[in-house]
Amino acid sequence: MSSPFVYEEPVGPEALVDRAAELGLLRDRVGDARNSRLEGARRFGKTSLLRAVLAAAVDDGAVVIEVNFLGCVSAADVAERIERAYGAQLDSALRRWYAGLIRTLQPTVSAAPAGVGVKARPQISAPGLLDRLALPRRIHERTGRMCVIAFDEFQEVLRIDPALPGVFRAELETHRTAASYLFCGSHPGLMRELFGDRRHAFFAQAAPVTLGPLPADDLADFLAARFSDGRRDPGEALGPLLDAAEGHPQRAMLLAHHLYQRVPPRGTAGIETWMKALADARREAEGEIQVLWESATELERRVLKVIAQRTVALGGREADSRFGLAKGGSTKAAVGRLLADGHVVEDPATRTGWRIVDPFLAAWLREG
Ligand SMILES: Nc1ncnc2c1ncn2[C@@H]1O[C@H](COP(=O)(O)OP(=O)(O)O)[C@@H](O)[C@H]1O
Ligand SMILES: [Mg+2]
Repeated sequence: MSSPFVYEEPVGPEALVDRAAELGLLRDRVGDARNSRLEGARRFGKTSLLRAVLAAAVDDGAVVIEVNFLGCVSAADVAERIERAYGAQLDSALRRWYAGLIRTLQPTVSAAPAGVGVKARPQISAPGLLDRLALPRRIHERTGRMCVIAFDEFQEVLRIDPALPGVFRAELETHRTAASYLFCGSHPGLMRELFGDRRHAFFAQAAPVTLGPLPADDLADFLAARFSDGRRDPGEALGPLLDAAEGHPQRAMLLAHHLYQRVPPRGTAGIETWMKALADARREAEGEIQVLWESATELERRVLKVIAQRTVALGGREADSRFGLAKGGSTKAAVGRLLADGHVVEDPATRTGWRIVDPFLAAWLREG
């Protein structure tokens, strides 16, 4: 039997460790037609939780739609992504109605071609987009049911054009009891800017729900139960696995997967098996760590190195002598960028006050 641990894609509600409090809170907020946003580092389970909330909302009688904006580069693209999500996710009765309705809406792409030499600019006033953003109102008018709409990778909308979120806001504001929105995105800096900066349309528009690391005891219970379902025992490997994962959800599942693969049915993992599984997991993550390293500036690399040590202070003598990192404003700016990109988070327990989000990257930086 192959490993029961999923680490390549969002997991179903039945495989969510912890997060019960967040799920309950979001379900209540959705029921009250309030908007929320999920905050959390990359691969901390935002999309998985979002889907669990949608599944609960279906049980509560809502019409739910999940839209992922990753890869959208224009307002027309955004409109099309929304259109396709409804087409694929509405239940069969609504889908028939929708098939007719969609043909009465303004096209997603404006027919007027841009002139030669005219700089292509996303048409943020795209009437086609407004029509698609208004769909929850149409559904509510028709069925009396509330819509729960999840906008994933929502930072893409801001990236396309800083004015585009304003187009969303203007329409969404009119939905009141017709719809509740869940926002999330993998770029913490842009998401914070969108919802936490007065200059942006979504300032204070959706209460944040934060996803932190998974508690070691809940993880231990989950892993042990899954091993036991497969008639295996994580044995002595469980402790070091929890240490190596540092509560990072995806890293925990990646490690569990490789450990499971190395334990035969009715077998128990020992330390030697654990070392091999750890090496397997790290090998799998090597490529992405390399990409990250290559895209970092020289200064960011030094900052990452220092933060990974945990016991070295930024701007201290050791940071300078061991890692060539001098004190200064540019160091602070580099930390800011790493924070915005989601590579580091605050951690008062370290000397720098920061922690590397990915424990694999941190180990690689410490050990080389
Ligand atoms: N609560 C959780 N319980 C178990 N695994 C989780 C949990 N949250 C995240 N994961 C793991 O992390 C991976 C990425 O989850 P995902 O929902 O795609 O994260 P995000 O949307 O934040 O990037 C999943 O494949 C799964 O292995
Ligand atoms: Mg996601």
